[in-house]
Amino acid sequence: MPSPSVWHSLKPSGPNSSQLRQMLERRLRGEPLQYILGTTPFGPLSLLSRPPILIPRPETEDWTLRLANTISPKSSRPLSVLDLCTGSGCIPLLLCHLWPPGSTLAFGVDISEQAIELATDNAARCNIPTRSGADALRNVFVPVLGDLRDTNLLKELEAPFDVVTANPPYVPMQEYVRLPPSVKDYEDPRALLGDMPESPTQNAGLSFYHIIARFLAQKDLLRDGAIVALEVGDRQAGDVEKILHCSAGLRNTEIWTDPWGKQRVVLAHA
Ligand SMILES: C[S@@+](CC[C@H](N)C(=O)[O-])C[C@H]1O[C@@H](n2cnc3c(N)ncnc32)[C@H](O)[C@@H]1O
Repeated sequence: MPSPSVWHSLKPSGPNSSQLRQMLERRLRGEPLQYILGTTPFGPLSLLSRPPILIPRPETEDWTLRLANTISPKSSRPLSVLDLCTGSGCIPLLLCHLWPPGSTLAFGVDISEQAIELATDNAARCNIPTRSGADALRNVFVPVLGDLRDTNLLKELEAPFDVVTANPPYVPMQEYVRLPPSVKDYEDPRALLGDMPESPTQNAGLSFYHIIARFLAQKDLLRDGAIVALEVGDRQAGDVEKILHCSAGLRNTEIWTDPWGKQRVVLAHA
């Protein structure tokens, strides 16, 4: 049996009691645990979480895992992936991690510089290179700072894409004002609020789906047979299907329900 001093040296290093007290105080003030701990599990990954970037949610984790199992890319025919509103980079990083090496080149676009920094740090943490052409035998994730509304954005990406994913901001204004302080006081409103004044469907949280549909309608953006997967909020799936039909010309759609019984993803096949 080892001596007590050996037990002491075997103890994993963790926060000391004063750090623990500070963490507890932050939690009691309502700060999300993931920001206090600095990490969030997402499938088999452990991703960095820093305010104000949206903490990846279990619903998003669930459909990303399902999407990863639905598509089987091969290194002999690599797939191009575009993740709009990438935040922490959770969606493309999980796909890059799960799919075979050399089968995936993913781009992730976000308007927030802090999000792009976090996505880049997360790629390093997951050992996924962030430069296109880095190594043909590895999956690559390229974070791109950009605004979905910018008509020049496509020039910075390598279209056409086989898979487009997005978890855009979709909370309607009247719901946003009622969100708990642990969300509203810590997470970027740009990551949550789905209403923009110029949108044709004001107050329904659908502004970003109109922007995404216009983006998808651009010539040569989607490869034939491409898959588009858009996360949606409560009771938005039907409207999002219509927006994709009318503004992106994507008529072949289906809805995925999450394990909590909510319609969570609109999937479209080009
Ligand atoms: C709901 S969060 C999703 C983050 C991440 N994909 C996830 O699932 O956890 C939406 C993200 O959209 C970004 N965003 C908001 N407006 C944008 C715009 N006009 N262009 C690009 N990204 C935008 C926000 O900065 C935020 O990171």
